Amino acid sequence: MASMSGNVVVVTGASTGIGQATAEAFAREGATVVLAARSEGRLVRIAADIEQAGGRAVPMAVDVTDRSAVFEKMKEVAESQGRIDVLVNNAGIGLLSPVENMDPEELKRVFEVNFFGLIWCTQAVLPCMIRQKGGRIVNVSSVAGKRALPHISAYCASKFALQAFSDSLRMEAAEHGITVSVICPPRVDTTFHDTPLMRQKGQRMNAPSLSADTVATAIVRATRKGSREVVVSFYGKFFVFFHWLSPRLLDWIMKRLWTRLAMKKTDRPASEDRP
Ligand SMILES: NC(=O)c1ccc[n+]([C@@H]2O[C@H](COP(=O)([O-])OP(=O)(O)OC[C@H]3O[C@@H](n4cnc5c(N)ncnc54)[C@H](OP(=O)(O)O)[C@@H]3O)[C@@H](O)[C@H]2O)c1
Repeated sequence: MASMSGNVVVVTGASTGIGQATAEAFAREGATVVLAARSEGRLVRIAADIEQAGGRAVPMAVDVTDRSAVFEKMKEVAESQGRIDVLVNNAGIGLLSPVENMDPEELKRVFEVNFFGLIWCTQAVLPCMIRQKGGRIVNVSSVAGKRALPHISAYCASKFALQAFSDSLRMEAAEHGITVSVICPPRVDTTFHDTPLMRQKGQRMNAPSLSADTVATAIVRATRKGSREVVVSFYGKFFVFFHWLSPRLLDWIMKRLWTRLAMKKTDRPASEDRP
């Protein structure tokens, strides 16, 4: 897949952050991008901006946790665009919560979006890709899907599950000419960390951050190459390597430094946050 020109690329979670940057990057490469998320107004505005800049974009309002809606919308895309070449499963949410206080409904929600939503989208595009005898599925995980961190256990578990699903799917899909890539960014500067589920007791996660555009560039490159897995940035690679080298030492560092270095007070009053 040397050029993206003429390709139809569906990006979930395209209303902001990494998904928006990825859709814009694919559009600059000449692809027709289908922007999927729940916030229809934002999708319409982003699609209009892409078209204004000379690209091709279609907004698609859908909740990835609604399996029948996902199937219906992906069928519409396949019919109206004639094909689906790339699916970027990017929609995702976090959950900042120590295990002892974890709310069962919040825990389920993380898996509904990050894991089941990704499976529904994948199942919905597979028939079209199999008919075409080719396609690319790109799953956005995290370094937290390679090495767990404290206080975000449910999020880490959902990304580890994504990794296993992707590794299994890769072997099944290969016979149809479909590649499966997993993208693992470290912390990225997006609204992800400002959502209510990622704030607790007036605190949010803080760490060196990449821009969404840097991750989008890595996603487009991995899609072109059909890469198996990409850990984004030197910092991300070092973190994963450190875990491989000495998981106990990294545990020790994380335990001691996490609350001091990785958490930051938010501007909002703690009363607005989850308990
Ligand atoms: N930010 C980081 O530090 C970081 C690091 C590593 C990996 N990641 C991963 O990167 C991906 C994107 O994160 P981001 O930082 O760009 O987050 P973000 O700015 O919060 O964007 C999340 C996107 O997911 C969409 N979304 C959430 N629930 C959805 C649902 N039920 N159905 C459809 N769309 C839904 C949101 O759109 P609507 O609300 O409009 O539906 C939004 O477009 C996630 O999978 C995340 O786990 C993020």
